[in-house]
Order: sequence, then C-alpha cells, then structure tokens
Amino acid sequence: MKTTGPATQEVHVSADLEGLAREAARRFAELAAAAVTKSERFTVAFSGGSTPRGLYRVLAAPPFREAVPWPQVHCFWGDERCVPPDHPESNYRGTFEELLARVPVPPDQVHGIQAELPDPAVAADQYAATLARVFGLQPGDFPRLDLVLLGMGADGHTASLFPGTPTVAEEGRSVAAVYVERLKAHRVTLTPPVLRRARAVLFLVAGTDKAQTLREVLQGSYRPDRYPAQLLHQAEGRVTWLLDRPAASLLDHPEAPGGTR
Ligand code: 6PG
Repeated sequence: MKTTGPATQEVHVSADLEGLAREAARRFAELAAAAVTKSERFTVAFSGGSTPRGLYRVLAAPPFREAVPWPQVHCFWGDERCVPPDHPESNYRGTFEELLARVPVPPDQVHGIQAELPDPAVAADQYAATLARVFGLQPGDFPRLDLVLLGMGADGHTASLFPGTPTVAEEGRSVAAVYVERLKAHRVTLTPPVLRRARAVLFLVAGTDKAQTLREVLQGSYRPDRYPAQLLHQAEGRVTWLLDRPAASLLDHPEAPGGTR
C-alpha cells in the first residue's frame, strides 16, 4: 500500500541500514541492466553524505561487482563540497574509496565536479558544460540521467539544495554554486530541473533523526522552500524512498521491514 503523498512515489522500509543498502544495490543493478540494454550506457549521479556509503560498499562486492555492467556506467555527482578531491569531506573521494576504486568504470566516464576551483561559480559552469557534452544537449536543455541517488538532511535538504537558499528555485541552469550560511561553506549542486528530469530517483534515508522531517516531506503540505526534498514530488520519473525502520517510524502505517507502501 502506498503511503500518502504524490502518487508516483514508492516507499520501501528495511529493518536497518544494511538491509537498506542491499535493497538499494538490487535496484541500482536492475536500473543499470535495463538502461544498458536500452541505450548501451547507464548514467548515474552519486550522492554524498554517509548513508549511501553502505550502498557503495555492497556494489563493490560480489554479487553486484559482477552483476553491474560497470564498463557502460557513466558517473556524475548530485553535489560536491568546495574542497579538493582528496579531502575527507569530498563526495567524490567517498564514492571513489568505497566503490569506484574497486569496479572497472573507465576513468573517462567518471565526471567529478571540480568544486576545488577558487570560484565555485566557474566550477558549476564547467560541470554544466560537461553535462551538455556527455548528454549532447542543445542550449537550454537539461540532462536526463538514468538514476539520481539522493540523501535527505534532517533539515529537509537534498543534494545541496538547502532550505531558504536561492538554488531551491533555480530553473534556468543545470548546475549552480551556493553559499550555505548554516554550514559557512560553498557547495556546487545539480539544480531542481535536473533532479526532477531523472528517469529514476532513489532517496536513501536512515536514522531516527530524519523521522520527523520525513513525515513532513512525505505526508505534510508541499513547501519545497522549507523542505527542498519535496521538489522531487514534481519528478518526471519514478521516485523511490528507501528507508530504514527508524527513519520511517513516524510515517502513517509504519511498515514491517521489507514491505512497500
Ligand atoms: C552531501 C549530500 C547531502 C546528504 C544529506 C544526508 O553532500 O552531504 O549531498 O545532501 O545526502 O546531507 O546526509 P547523510 O546521508 O550523511 O545523513
């Protein structure tokens, strides 16, 4: 049974973080196989943060290391911190350490955001140009990724679309630089049009600290400026929320592990 909320969204609850990672890996592999069968490539934007690291570890090990057509995978990131790629805070570094160093993705198919550049706006423009090149975009078009992996902060942000920041309303560009006052830090992020346009979006959300926000995002009124993760309520593709039981604990009809709503 689906939880209340936009009809195109599915919620799947796993007992714990490990179960969430396995469910996410299964769906990642399914989406990759379908995309490669259809168009001989799979384009995916990885998420930063800690929750997806379990997924990356599962994908880097049997059976997924063999099951995913890694030579046909093209890697992007939903956002990046403005630090060097070898910095502990770097989303690229986290994904590379846990996954990309262990699977055969051709290096020229790994497209990191050069957020370490002195001017984040230049980094955003360069990444937009990379997307335009790889996706063969006409001016004004937005890329359609096969899969975008997203997390959600306890404040309702996703990627680096933070509550009350102008990027939440960015509709003209595919990549934007943003200064996040709360973090006292610059970020570079894909914008709402790109996230909404993905063929599939997998949110990975775990932990009791996300439960109240998740209830607001999935069952509360639509306020994307306050809860930017709600922007995906307007997604064109399929949006799936992969939760652990603590994160889902305040949703109506808390699900038994493994059930879908
Ligand atoms: C980042 C992510 C960010 C993250 C959320 C959740 O760069 O940090 O893009 O949007 O997904 O903050 O992070 P956790 O998974 O660590 O809770």
